[in-house]
Amino acid sequence: MNITVINGTEKYGVTYRLKEMFLTAFKDNANITEYYLPKDCPNFCNGCISCITKGENTCKDAEYIGKIDKSLLDADLVVMTSPAYVFHSTGAMKAFLDHFAYRWLSHRPASEMFEKRAVIITQCLGAGAKSAAKDIKHSLSWWGVSKIGIFTGALMSDIVWENQTVEIIDDKSNPNGYLYNKSTLLRSVAFVKMSVSCNELL
Ligand SMILES: Cc1cc2nc3c(=O)[nH]c(=O)nc-3n(C[C@H](O)[C@H](O)[C@H](O)COP(=O)(O)O)c2cc1C
Repeated sequence: MNITVINGTEKYGVTYRLKEMFLTAFKDNANITEYYLPKDCPNFCNGCISCITKGENTCKDAEYIGKIDKSLLDADLVVMTSPAYVFHSTGAMKAFLDHFAYRWLSHRPASEMFEKRAVIITQCLGAGAKSAAKDIKHSLSWWGVSKIGIFTGALMSDIVWENQTVEIIDDKSNPNGYLYNKSTLLRSVAFVKMSVSCNELL
């Protein structure tokens, strides 16, 4: 299976680590292509609407968008991640989503999107991960993706990953493994739920 990952941050931080945990189950069986924002889509949409009226290949950023678009169309599973920045996805993610306005059902939908599954992973320090996930879900839904799994978490503790108390328990009797977190049980439970439902994709 093909997995395309759009990382809403270039930072090797908490979001990156959660995404890596999620992808672990797929690493041996899938072709995983990752894009990091803003590096792989570095510019803002300037609103010329050429993508909608003339075609996405006329976008000033077509060199970036064309490659990612093909990868998204080829994917069986799309994974999109972002930390919460002021209660929303990162600006880099928003700039990316703006570039794909032409893909909305109201403009030029692609039938390839309709059978795809997507997973959104967002997290924050205290509050805002849900609204960050909503930013991404809104676009995925309007691209026509119908099966979207969402993980949102709040650290509720230290901002630095190394100081977190999350551990993956390597339990051989449970091939999926599971997360154990002494300080934020709810987050663990949510992550386990996501892992279980996403393992159905394997
Ligand atoms: C610009 C900025 C805005 C942020 N806004 C929020 C916020 O609204 N709510 C929150 O709980 N945390 C907020 N945070 C904290 C991050 O969401 C949190 O530290 C997250 O774990 C960072 O993920 P990362 O390590 O993947 O970058 C913000 C951080 C930054 C840099």
